Amino acid sequence: MGDRWWEDAVIYQVYLRSFADGNGDGYGDIPGLRSRLGYLRSLGVDAVWVSPWYPSPMRDGGYDVADYQDIDPLFGSLEDAAALFEDAHRIGLRVLIDVVPNHTSDQHPWFLAALSSAEGAPARERYYFRDGRGPDGSLPPNDWPSAFGGPAWSRTTRPDGSPGQWYLHLFAPEQPDLNWGCGEVQHDFEKVMRFWYDLGADGCRVDAVPAMGKDSTLPDAGIAASDVFSPSGWPETPLWDGESVHGVLRSWRAVAASYSPEKFLVGEVIVNGPARLARYLRDDELHSVLGFELSRAPWSAEAFRACIGPTLDGPWPGRARPTWFLSSHDEVRAVTRYAQARAQAQAQAQAQAQAQARDRRPGGTGQAQLAAGTARARAALLVMLALPGAACIYQGEELGLWQVEDLPLELLEDPIVARTGDPSKGRDGCRVPVPWAGGAPPFAFTPGPSSWLPQPRSWADLTVDHQQRSAGSTLRLVTRALELRRETAGLLTDRFEWREPGDGALAFERGAGFSCVANFDGGPLDLPPGTDVVLASGPLAGDGRLPAGTAAWLTVSVPLRGRRPGS
Ligand code: NOJ
Repeated sequence: MGDRWWEDAVIYQVYLRSFADGNGDGYGDIPGLRSRLGYLRSLGVDAVWVSPWYPSPMRDGGYDVADYQDIDPLFGSLEDAAALFEDAHRIGLRVLIDVVPNHTSDQHPWFLAALSSAEGAPARERYYFRDGRGPDGSLPPNDWPSAFGGPAWSRTTRPDGSPGQWYLHLFAPEQPDLNWGCGEVQHDFEKVMRFWYDLGADGCRVDAVPAMGKDSTLPDAGIAASDVFSPSGWPETPLWDGESVHGVLRSWRAVAASYSPEKFLVGEVIVNGPARLARYLRDDELHSVLGFELSRAPWSAEAFRACIGPTLDGPWPGRARPTWFLSSHDEVRAVTRYAQARAQAQAQAQAQAQAQARDRRPGGTGQAQLAAGTARARAALLVMLALPGAACIYQGEELGLWQVEDLPLELLEDPIVARTGDPSKGRDGCRVPVPWAGGAPPFAFTPGPSSWLPQPRSWADLTVDHQQRSAGSTLRLVTRALELRRETAGLLTDRFEWREPGDGALAFERGAGFSCVANFDGGPLDLPPGTDVVLASGPLAGDGRLPAGTAAWLTVSVPLRGRRPGS
C-alpha cells in the first residue's frame, strides 16, 4: 500500500457513541475507541472512519455540528483526538474524520448570529433565509422537501414575537443549510480541514456532498412535500447535485494535495446514475465515493451482479472508484435485510430499499430468519472483500450483529422518527452499542451500569470475546478474510472476470488462480474441478458442494505431480 493507500483499503466505520465507552456514562467516546485500537489492528483493517465528534446538541447523532474545531465533551477533548491519531499511526492505522458541510446545528454561533441579525443583514448570508410566499408570508418560499420528512423550510420568529423569514434545512429543522455561494463559508471550511489535518487526520468522509450543489435562486422543484426524498431517482433538480458543488470539491482537493502524503477524501454522494457520480471523481475532486448500490441490493445473485458489473465498469475517471459497503449507521443491518424473503429479491433495488424501510416492524425478524440472514451476510462479506477496490465495514458487521427492531419508543433518538411519525423508519436499530465481552448487557461496552441504547441479551453469543474464542465465528471469518486479502496475489491485481456458475449463484475470477463463488439461493453447487477452498462463509455440504447462502474463496489446486515430496 503506497501513497494511494485508499485504492484497496478496508475502512472500518466507527459510530462513536456506540463503539466503546471509556468513562462509564453509557456513551462511546474517544478514550474508549483508543482502548480498542488493538482490536481493529488485529482485525486487520487499514483505516478507521469516525462519525462526527464535534460539539453538538445531538439532534441528529452529531450530524448537527455546533463547532467544527472542537470535540463534544461527551466524546472527550481535542487532546484525546490528537492522542487517537498518534496511537493509531503508531500501529499503522489511518483515521478519517467525518466532515458535515451542508448544514450546521441551529446552535452554531453562525446560525445564532444570523437569527439575531436583521432580515437582509450580512450575517444571514451564510444560510438561506427567505421571505415566505402568500400575502402574509405564511407559506414556505418553495416546494422543497426535507430528507427527513415534511417541508425543507422552518419559519423564524422576530424579537417582537411576530413571524419572520423562513430558513432552509434539507434535513432536520435543527440543521440549517449553509449557503455555499458565500465566500466566508468556503474560506472557513478550508480552515476546518487544515485544522484536522494538522492535528493528524488522514482524510475526511464528507457528508451529503451533492446537497451543497443547490440552485441559489431556489426555484420550485416540482416535488410535493409528501413525496419520498429520492436524489438517486431525480433526473435533475434545483436542490441537489448542481454544478456549484464541484468548485468546492476542487478547492478541498487542493488543500488535501498540499499535504504529503496527500489526505484522502471520500464522499457520501447519492445522485442519479453513474454518469453524474463520475463527475465527483474527477482527478481534482474526491478520491472516492461511498458506493450505495451494494448496500441496496437485495439477496439475489442477479441483483448483486447487476450492481457489481456497472460499478466496476462505470465511467470513472483515472483510477478513482466507488468504495464498496454493505452496512452503515444509516442502513438496516445486512443480517436483517437478508433475512427477508426471496420474493423481495425480485423487486427493483430501489423499490426494494424503500419497501424494506416501510415494512420494518419492531421485533419483526424471527430467530430462524436471522440465522439465514447471518449466513447470507457472511457470504456477502466474502463477496465484497473479494472485489477489486476499497471496502468499508460498519462496526459490528464483523460480529454479524443484526438490526435491533424492538427498542423502546421513548429511547429512539433519530429525528426521522419524529418527522415522519413512523418508528419503523428510524435508524437507531443499527446503532446499538457493540457487545465486547461477558454474558449480559452492557457486555463490557461501558464500565458503567448500562449503555445509551439497550443491547439484546441474546448478543451474549456475539461478543468480540466469545467470537475470538469460537472457531467458525463471523469475527474469525472476517479476520481471516482480511488476512488473505492482504496476502493473496490474485486479490492484489485489478483483474476481474465473471464466471457462469449457474442459476442463483455468481462467480468471478481475480487472477493468479483466485476466484470467489457465491450460492445465493440455487441448489447445492459443484465447485470447479481443480480448485481448493481457502475460505468459506459456512459449512460445505457433505459431498463438498456449496449450499445456498454460502460463498467460498477458491484457488487453483497445486497439481499433485508438481508437489515436492513431503509438501
Ligand atoms: C448522512 C449521514 O450519514 C446521516 O446519518 C445524517 O443524518 C445525514 N447525512 C444528515 O447529515
